[in-house]
Amino acid sequence: MKDFLNNIIKSIKDYFSKGEESVLGIDISSSSIKVVQLRKKRGRAVLETYGEIALGAYADVENGRATKLSTQKTAEALTDLIRESKVTAKKCGVSVPLSSSLLKIIKIPAVSEKQLKEIVPIEARKYIPVPITEVHLDWNVIPKETSYSEDGEVQKADKIEVMIVAIHKEIINMYTDVLSQNNLESSFFEIELFATTRSVLSRGIKPVMIFDFGVSTTKLYIVEEGIIRESHIVNRGSQDLTLALSKSLGISFDEAEGSKRTTGLVKKTESEEESTENTSAIIEYIFSEVERTIVDYQVKYNKSIVKIVLTGGGVLLKNIVEKTSEKFKIEVELADPFKKVEAPAFLEEILKRAGPEFAVAVGVALRKLEEQE
Ligand SMILES: Nc1ncnc2c1ncn2[C@@H]1O[C@H](COP(=O)(O)OP(=O)(O)OP(=O)(O)O)[C@@H](O)[C@H]1O
Ligand SMILES: [Mg+2]
Repeated sequence: MKDFLNNIIKSIKDYFSKGEESVLGIDISSSSIKVVQLRKKRGRAVLETYGEIALGAYADVENGRATKLSTQKTAEALTDLIRESKVTAKKCGVSVPLSSSLLKIIKIPAVSEKQLKEIVPIEARKYIPVPITEVHLDWNVIPKETSYSEDGEVQKADKIEVMIVAIHKEIINMYTDVLSQNNLESSFFEIELFATTRSVLSRGIKPVMIFDFGVSTTKLYIVEEGIIRESHIVNRGSQDLTLALSKSLGISFDEAEGSKRTTGLVKKTESEEESTENTSAIIEYIFSEVERTIVDYQVKYNKSIVKIVLTGGGVLLKNIVEKTSEKFKIEVELADPFKKVEAPAFLEEILKRAGPEFAVAVGVALRKLEEQE
């Protein structure tokens, strides 16, 4: 009888706690690891904790430099971050860098789901530069607007668009190891751009560009009707600004990093003229790639980009919003991913400032919460 009652009490407890477990979004990026822990309360995503750990110390380089850590060192850094941020969640999702993945939209004849399973891997081979056995392959059929003939009949498209997503197995194996060393359990690995799109964009149908200013690269995405149509990696990032400042002013990387974060790229003295020129060349290069991506999109789809959303730690640079809108003469907005979660009011300003760096981790945590629905 006692067992019977205990079982009933347990079932009731399980029923009420279902879907209320804390979840963790993890972003292992090139200069730091970021985590965001959320929990669902009354149907809302509530922020429980978040944190970031710089990876410089684990790689014996200055903080702010891009690193490539071993599995062991990455696991150690994550352990430290979990402790420092008081993370309690065990269920998580993890983002995968765009550079370890491949994303391509292809057009193929409209076929059945079963035939798709045969056709897609064959088609994918044409775009994936490594043997297909080395990647984890996934795909999605992109929903098409229904088109009607003149007499109102629904027209069947003869071609469909399929988004192919491939992730290198090597990185999935490494992350699986890092997680198991931290007793974490992940149900998915998501390419970072999907996470960012979820956390920084609100519903909209017009094409928008997401500009992710990271450490050694800048990633550009074009999203239309919630679907990522283009992605492009520019081989310049915020670290290049630090390196240019350090070189032209004859100061250490650490000093230059500090100066970039506090003063930005504004010229203080005449001797800084040259450094301003160097850093301007980097920004100009990135902007020229933005321009090219926007123009290519216009030519290909005959549609204009209506807004640029800035994300990634690099966009905390002073005046970058003004510079970008001046250059492209369109609306420019700083990403505010924490807007999608509930948090104490006194954190509002701090979270706004931290937002661009945490966009990926917030997006992953939001997807993990959706799994509970
Ligand atoms: N206040 C600031 N002003 C200018 N730059 C800043 C500021 N704060 C951080 N950054 C820069 O942001 C970068 C880190 O951004 P972020 O955390 O988004 O990169 P990451 O995710 O590690 O890079 P990636 O996505 O390329 O792997 C660093 O280069 C850092 O110098
Ligand atoms: Mg990043």
